[in-house]
Amino acid sequence: MNIAVVGTGYVGLVVGACLAETGNQVTGADVDEAKIDGLLKNVLPIYEPGLDHLVARNQSARRLAFTTDVASAIAGAEVVFIAVGTPPDEDGSADLRYVLNVAETIGRNMARETVVVTKSTVPVGTAAKVSDAVGRHARFPFHVVSNPEFLKEGAAVDDFMKPDRVVLGAETDHARSVMAELYAPFVRTGRPIIFMDLPSAEMTKYAANAMLATRISFMNDIAELCERVGANVDVVRKGIGSDERIGSAFLFPGPGYGGSCFPKDVKALVKTARDQATCLRILEAVEAVNQDQKHRMFEKLTTALGGDVSGARIAVWGLAFKPNTDDMREAPALTLIEELLAAGATVAAHDPVAMDEAARRLGSRVEFATSGYQAATGADALAVVTDWNEYRHPDFARIKQVLKQPIIVDGRNLYPLHRMTELGFKYYSIGRRAIA
Ligand SMILES: NC(=O)c1ccc[n+]([C@@H]2O[C@H](COP(=O)([O-])OP(=O)(O)OC[C@H]3O[C@@H](n4cnc5c(N)ncnc54)[C@H](O)[C@@H]3O)[C@@H](O)[C@H]2O)c1
Repeated sequence: MNIAVVGTGYVGLVVGACLAETGNQVTGADVDEAKIDGLLKNVLPIYEPGLDHLVARNQSARRLAFTTDVASAIAGAEVVFIAVGTPPDEDGSADLRYVLNVAETIGRNMARETVVVTKSTVPVGTAAKVSDAVGRHARFPFHVVSNPEFLKEGAAVDDFMKPDRVVLGAETDHARSVMAELYAPFVRTGRPIIFMDLPSAEMTKYAANAMLATRISFMNDIAELCERVGANVDVVRKGIGSDERIGSAFLFPGPGYGGSCFPKDVKALVKTARDQATCLRILEAVEAVNQDQKHRMFEKLTTALGGDVSGARIAVWGLAFKPNTDDMREAPALTLIEELLAAGATVAAHDPVAMDEAARRLGSRVEFATSGYQAATGADALAVVTDWNEYRHPDFARIKQVLKQPIIVDGRNLYPLHRMTELGFKYYSIGRRAIA
């Protein structure tokens, strides 16, 4: 099939490359010239494991092309994916400007019967707006589909290639059969394609992210109570996660959820409810707990350093909002670093892949180290924010030697308490007793 994917960010690039990999003719179109220039040379704008090989292989096989000429990409396509951003507006609602702008461009430039697929995460009712925007200019029949994306950054290629399920909101037979054909190679092991109406598909995406965010905030709340009553959240997590009705995923306490999806999608769903004169009470609490949680590492560092971090030098391990990505949107490390700087501390940071992105956001206010050990050298405390594999089994003797004081504040509970006691660290984690 001839396919256009408009927007070549985290989602659009993965969708385009994976659809090309199964033999489709795909054009990725974006208004960002620098991004397209890079992609034409197989230079990716993001870090995503496995994606670089997929892009290079399919470009050289001439199944994958990139352009800034969005109009011509649309004109040649029988299926157009909208994969542009939907950032939060000031009131928390999803900003649909980019999506509707692309929809109008599709209407103006389509040159045949076209299936218009919204991949971006959009509030319920957006399909009708997309349909209006396309229809204002369309000279050919078109079919609007809502196809929310559930990939996880860091495992995006695998998630797209082997999805747990594919959700498709579609209301015509033509749309259903085209989309079923397109997704057939990805669901060969029997994973379901779930067809539904358009509003339900739009709601499914938000409900999924809201549920996952809820599990995280729930565990962060439980972790806080564990600290007060002397319980250990790690064993509590295992104790509840082995119950099949609960399951073990997304039960890890931490420094608060971040990234491009959970924070904005939770806010947008809360706003949708408010607009409908109702209130999602649980989700409002989920958001409030997360806001508090993002300050916890700073509070723990302050406690560890005797109530004042001014003049202290803090090593920060991990800047990306989670491992295996360079994405720093709403990353807990940003909250921590801003609080440390505002309180008069200096920060030496390390991340295996997100340092360029961090430098773009933080500039020279932070020192960037070439290794975790270099960041720790001369620091008054080490804060572990992102659970990259390379931070899981560090050389503790070396850390102790290079730190000015043997203090570790661990936002991911990476290290066993007994080990840290033996090694003589002052060690503060989440939902476990402090070794002070
Ligand atoms: N990142 C994720 O993990 C993820 C997962 C599932 C769903 N989503 C959703 O997918 C959507 C895209 O997210 P993302 O993380 O890929 O965003 P992104 O910011 O990485 O990419 C969006 C791209 O769209 C381009 N763009 C904007 N306006 C355009 C226009 N008029 N024409 C052509 N290109 C245009 C931008 O230049 C950018 O490259 C969002 O709605 C997001 O919520 C994201």
